[in-house]
Amino acid sequence: MIEAIHALRQQAEQELERLDDAAALPEWYRRYLGRKGELTQQLKQMGALSPEERPKMGKVVNKVKQTLEDAFHARQQSLQTEQLNRELAGDDLDVTLPGRPVHTGHLHLTTQTLRKIYRIFGEMGFQVYEAPDVETDEYNFQLLNIPEYHPARDMWDTFWVNDQVLLRTHTSPGQIRAMREYHPDPIRVILPGKCYRYEQITPRSEHQFFQVEGLAVGKNIRLTDLIGVMSEFARKMYGQEREVRIRGSYFPFTEPSIEIDMSCSCEKVGCRLCKQTGWLEIAGAGMVHPVVLRNGGYEPEEWTGFALGMGVERPALLKHGIQDIRYFYGNDLRFLQQF
Ligand code: PHE
Repeated sequence: MIEAIHALRQQAEQELERLDDAAALPEWYRRYLGRKGELTQQLKQMGALSPEERPKMGKVVNKVKQTLEDAFHARQQSLQTEQLNRELAGDDLDVTLPGRPVHTGHLHLTTQTLRKIYRIFGEMGFQVYEAPDVETDEYNFQLLNIPEYHPARDMWDTFWVNDQVLLRTHTSPGQIRAMREYHPDPIRVILPGKCYRYEQITPRSEHQFFQVEGLAVGKNIRLTDLIGVMSEFARKMYGQEREVRIRGSYFPFTEPSIEIDMSCSCEKVGCRLCKQTGWLEIAGAGMVHPVVLRNGGYEPEEWTGFALGMGVERPALLKHGIQDIRYFYGNDLRFLQQF
């Protein structure tokens, strides 16, 4: 019987070697190792053996079974590799075909606008200074010359975390932070960031928006420096033909205070964009108030400075003729992909 098993093994091995198609493998397996396979048949015949011979035969059969199992898996592996190599060598795979395009995103319109602003102010020597969104009453109001109960607080209602902590209504509190950090050196910074106001949301106003503050503190800084910086900014941001004009205004933290307007792209003819006035508002500004300078650590007898604050979404909105400011926060790809 041992001879019969070894003969069977030999036959199975030779046959396996001759197989050249992976599809024929299951058939071979069924024939030799399956439940009704030849080896199983042999095992069944062991009942006829004597009790001494039975375990010996069992061992032999199990060993042959293991050998054939191993041979089967090895052959399966090599046939699959061969097949893969054949397919790769054939013309089925054209590696010169262009790949599928990967869709990359791009910067949000607000970020693009901010970066342009950074670049223009950077060329004039202004560094970017970051200040926190969550502020205290002290920084957002008091140190900016807006004491408690000052009527100017009505211009800046906001979201309060508690009595003392709030979401900043403008980037101006960063002026104090920058001054306290730079003191006693001269300063030339812009402070970009998110601001918040407790406001009705409409096509023209959001309860969150970006501002960029500008601050210069030094010796002999004058209002004309501010006007020069803003003229340069308007020309670089919106085109060489832009002019600026100033109007008197009021902010508690600047003295004198001004509004800066820029001539509209209609060349002052009057259009829908500028509401027929020929001019667009671009910033609130002024000379840093002596109280604010002192709060920042600078002696107003010795130092002067100018500050300005401008919106970021509104100019982008005007530039691209966007009808509704809420699109900036809607995350609608149909809107975002246009820019
Ligand atoms: N902080 C003011 C505002 O939000 C703008 C401003 C900044 C005005 C700096 C003057 C100087 O309305």
